Amino acid sequence: MSIAILCGKDTEQAHHYQPYAKSFSTAITNADPMISVQTWPDITHPNDVEMALVWDYAAGELNKLHQLKCIVSLGAGVDHIMSDDSLPTNIPVVRIVDKYMVQDITQYVVATTLHYIKRFDHWDKCATQGEWAKQPPFKLDNIKVGIMGLGNLGGAAAKALSQLGITVSGWSRKKKNLSFIQSFSGKGELELFLSQTDILVCMLPLTPSTENILNHETFSQLPFGSYVINLGRGNHLVDNDLLGALETGQIAGATLDVFRQEPLPKNHPFWQHPNIRITPHIASVTNPKTAAKQIIENYHRLQLGKRLLHEVDIKAGY
Ligand code: OXD
Repeated sequence: MSIAILCGKDTEQAHHYQPYAKSFSTAITNADPMISVQTWPDITHPNDVEMALVWDYAAGELNKLHQLKCIVSLGAGVDHIMSDDSLPTNIPVVRIVDKYMVQDITQYVVATTLHYIKRFDHWDKCATQGEWAKQPPFKLDNIKVGIMGLGNLGGAAAKALSQLGITVSGWSRKKKNLSFIQSFSGKGELELFLSQTDILVCMLPLTPSTENILNHETFSQLPFGSYVINLGRGNHLVDNDLLGALETGQIAGATLDVFRQEPLPKNHPFWQHPNIRITPHIASVTNPKTAAKQIIENYHRLQLGKRLLHEVDIKAGY
């Protein structure tokens, strides 16, 4: 039996992903030298492959692995798998759930939120002009952060912010009972959630019902001058609706880590916008060493016919 790693939608992209794929194959074989790993497109023994580790892979390739028994997303998100129309049926999909990814994204949310609340962009601008333009920072307890998506990542970020004295609320598909925040759920409670959110943080999984959720209507239900942080997926955001809302001042600014097309094309208007801060999809990066541990654990569970760790609800899409 072997593990295959499939990254990249075509051979050119696979080449670009090579160091990334290599970091996983090295981490796996270092941790368990008995496991053989093949990397797409050089899968010479497809019939040995029982587990496929995938990221942004070429749809249809999994169907060539006739002994495949488990598909592993190399990240927390699984939208890149769910969007594969030829996804083999009845094969469990698992994802990486890792405390380091939780830490990473929590730190990103806290840093970005505080950066905005403490008006660091304003001070930077003033400093370049040698201007001593005193303006009080927003008060932590005056500002309300609303997190869309309260899974293990969103829940941890909500907790960290509330521990700083920030009022946090959350919105998710199903009601979550988290003692430290006010929780809203479903379409029926979205407007109320938005109406009391000054900083909107999107940490939702991408599914057909969350696609384009950061749109004109959503922005118009936020208080005037709100701030948006998108850490979900690029397809959550309607780019032109954000640009329009920035133009009118309805949205004061945004920090974006994910984009419809990645890398973000050089001529995209987001690059030049003075009130958009861009990071290149780094809010939470899978750590090959810790991920290898749970991949190997699942590899052994698979052989023993045991229940897999971190299995995805394929029907719900995350
Ligand atoms: C992930 C990501 O899904 O980094 O893990 O986007």
